Amino acid sequence: MADSNSASTADASWQQTWGSSDFIKRWANKSGWQAPIREVQMAMVLRMIPHLIDEPIRILDIGAGYGALAAAVLRDRPNASAVCLDASEAMLKLGNERNRDLKDRISFIQGSLETSDWIKSVEGTFDAVISARALHHFTENQRRRYIFKEVYGIIRDRGCFINADNVRASTKSLGERYRRARDEYLDQFVRESSGGKTNLAEVRAASPSTYHGPHNNGYLEEELAWLREAGFEDVDCFWKFTTMVVYGGFKS
Ligand SMILES: C[S@@+](CC[C@H](N)C(=O)[O-])C[C@H]1O[C@@H](n2cnc3c(N)ncnc32)[C@H](O)[C@@H]1O
Repeated sequence: MADSNSASTADASWQQTWGSSDFIKRWANKSGWQAPIREVQMAMVLRMIPHLIDEPIRILDIGAGYGALAAAVLRDRPNASAVCLDASEAMLKLGNERNRDLKDRISFIQGSLETSDWIKSVEGTFDAVISARALHHFTENQRRRYIFKEVYGIIRDRGCFINADNVRASTKSLGERYRRARDEYLDQFVRESSGGKTNLAEVRAASPSTYHGPHNNGYLEEELAWLREAGFEDVDCFWKFTTMVVYGGFKS
């Protein structure tokens, strides 16, 4: 585990990022130059939920932020309902503001995934537990291993856990190749969609900084092994673009 000094440093940095409403406003309004990749990533989460589209399923989004992923699932599934859990009060406030049209089907709960106590704040069981871009934020990388077990315990039979996240390239040279491939892909997208008026470097330079500390990404193979260890079946990486992934598993 992290020592108490690094834990308090992490806590201070959290207060300046996800704990700060100014930071969150900047983060949520950022132009999103990774949007074309993120869109496919999110679509893959929606498509991997195994239930029929009109089933009244109950969803839990962990590290939900303002609930963008949960809201996308609810817009796709007219009879579904969602609970969104996040540690940041400011994010949850934004979630309530941005999802007024879904207010009868979505609720926001404050809780930190850093310890297993979060389980007590979400009541009952779920058909699908989903997450996006959140589970790499832990100060202690092994924490995800235990979260997978905690999640398995609250998933109903026929349910699933789907995580859209970032992983670590398995070697330094692969990491560099991935970075270049992603930037070339996005640069072409920005040039084409702007009719040649701008490029990725300019869009990036114009985006406000939303740096929020080092990311503690895991290795994909290890994440999948932890899912199997937790009890999930049909575990796989369902989609991958460089170091951006969608992986998960099912409960029979
Ligand atoms: C990059 S944002 C992603 C938000 C959302 N899932 C999305 O894709 O828009 C990361 C989120 O993780 C949340 N987070 C960070 N540490 C957390 C923790 N220990 N417990 C719960 N949420 C946490 C932050 O508050 C933030 O909302």
